[in-house]
Amino acid sequence: MAWDKLYGRIIKSGIAMDWGAFLTESVMPYLEGAKHILDLGCGQGHDSIRLSRMGFQVTGVDISENAIEEARGRAGTEKLKIDFKNMDMSHGLGFADSSFDVVLANLSLHYFSLERTQFIFQEIDRILEHKGILCLHVNSREVGEKRRANGSIVSELEPEFFLEWDGVSRRYFDYNDLEFLLQNWEIENVEKRILQDEKGQVRKTCWQVIASKS
Ligand SMILES: C[S@@+](CC[C@H](N)C(=O)[O-])C[C@H]1O[C@@H](n2cnc3c(N)ncnc32)[C@H](O)[C@@H]1O
Repeated sequence: MAWDKLYGRIIKSGIAMDWGAFLTESVMPYLEGAKHILDLGCGQGHDSIRLSRMGFQVTGVDISENAIEEARGRAGTEKLKIDFKNMDMSHGLGFADSSFDVVLANLSLHYFSLERTQFIFQEIDRILEHKGILCLHVNSREVGEKRRANGSIVSELEPEFFLEWDGVSRRYFDYNDLEFLLQNWEIENVEKRILQDEKGQVRKTCWQVIASKS
């Protein structure tokens, strides 16, 4: 499986695939009063750990068993109680209705066909409490254009959804796509954000959307 292989390599080489506090810091005002947060596509658990250190109850899920094992290890070192689970979100979110008051999805919702993406948004809606909050970051169209130009794309599976050189399929979002997916939600805030690496180099432009379940 592409993600497990990728994390196997990353973990072996000691790399932490992490944007630092950049993604979580900007959503902090929306987490006020949150009790139980789901970190959807949590990877090595960096955001889950940051939130747990702040005192939130956190559950983190990811499709990669390697990433989840690493996340458990990191949390264990700090004696943080985070429930990390191996889960493929495209097959549904294995939680009861209204289990969370916040779902955080940092760079993890842009890997699916439109049908699967719609299904995952429905699942997020189902597991959130009334007035629960979804905080997401997804790749913008500009990222897709760059990937097209640098030869990363193997084939177009659907409009703006591509199979890429690393075996991962990625979707590139326009604001209209997000508005469509969130048509039954209350959109609280939308921003286009530039993600930089640790050297300050621009890596990509993403959409940040905060929406509440209406
Ligand atoms: C770019 S990483 C983002 C990781 C982390 N949220 C962050 O911001 O650093 C995307 C993550 O989504 C996870 N992912 C991809 N497809 C998934 C699926 N079907 N179900 C659960 N997680 C998935 C990957 O394993 C990976 O950890």
